[in-house]
Amino acid sequence: MVKPRVYVTRVIPDAGLERIRAVADAEVWEGDEPPPYEILLEKVEGLDGLVSLLTDRIDAELMDAAGGSLRVISQMAVGTDNIDLAAATERGIPVGNTPGVLTETTADFAFSLLMAAARRIVEGERYVKAGKWVTWGPTLLMGHDIHGATLGLIGFGRIGQGMAKRARGFGMRVLYAGPSVDEGTARELHAERRDLDELLTESDFVSLHVPLTEQTTHLMADREFKLMKPGAILINTARGPVVDPGALYRALKEGEIAYAALDVTEPEPIPVDDPLLTLDNCLIVPHIASSSLATRSRMATMAAENLEAGLKGEKLPHCANPEVYG
Ligand code: GLV
Repeated sequence: MVKPRVYVTRVIPDAGLERIRAVADAEVWEGDEPPPYEILLEKVEGLDGLVSLLTDRIDAELMDAAGGSLRVISQMAVGTDNIDLAAATERGIPVGNTPGVLTETTADFAFSLLMAAARRIVEGERYVKAGKWVTWGPTLLMGHDIHGATLGLIGFGRIGQGMAKRARGFGMRVLYAGPSVDEGTARELHAERRDLDELLTESDFVSLHVPLTEQTTHLMADREFKLMKPGAILINTARGPVVDPGALYRALKEGEIAYAALDVTEPEPIPVDDPLLTLDNCLIVPHIASSSLATRSRMATMAAENLEAGLKGEKLPHCANPEVYG
């Protein structure tokens, strides 16, 4: 029997790739960088399934370039803001994603960023490696306490709630903004709801956990930074464009907030000459919050499962556009 044809836009962990190869005739883009859009347009022609990453632009034009054969798009990520979901739905193409499996790993990482920023760990490491450590300093690299501080979570879904659990272990007070959760969950996590402005005004740490949509693009801009406490710290593990980078630069430079720790930037990757990279109070890492060995393997497996279901014409176990099923 002829196997369905699938394109995988990067080398993903073996756990997923082996599973994909077992059910499909799979071509894999071997480059370290994403395939250029023009290449994708060519590759997609006549495909049955596409395994994508958040670095690929998957729009209506690309879907149409498949020529009507595309039965499933399976993305190895929970976020799908790179995919035109409405266009996929219009064309009857289900889009898979990987929610749940990366929640704890991403919350671990967001909390690590919070701690690294609060206690200036990266600055400390640079200081030592630069040979500047000549004595114990009574005011050296003074940071911010985590225990007893208030953590404001913008977005209180799975990962936001994961942050709340961790914060409780550190004796933090937890606030959240966004759609309200049921009373039981809020009570269990000791989280109090606030509107966005109240949360920004009251929090010592503000951590972003919203998907990127039209409403959340540049949700954090000049006005919002002005509302934050001068000693406050921003953590972004959501999507880069949730923060206006120009406004963040100004806020950090002018001391309107103390520090930012970013796993995601706008654009990605951040250019080496971006002004944010000149600031000591801005810690930036390359979008690695879900990158543990176990979790990336689980994400790849889940992407393979979604792909397989879609190729068989079955409902995807995790579908980002369930409306496609009517
Ligand atoms: C990572 O950012 C993801 O959306 O999975």
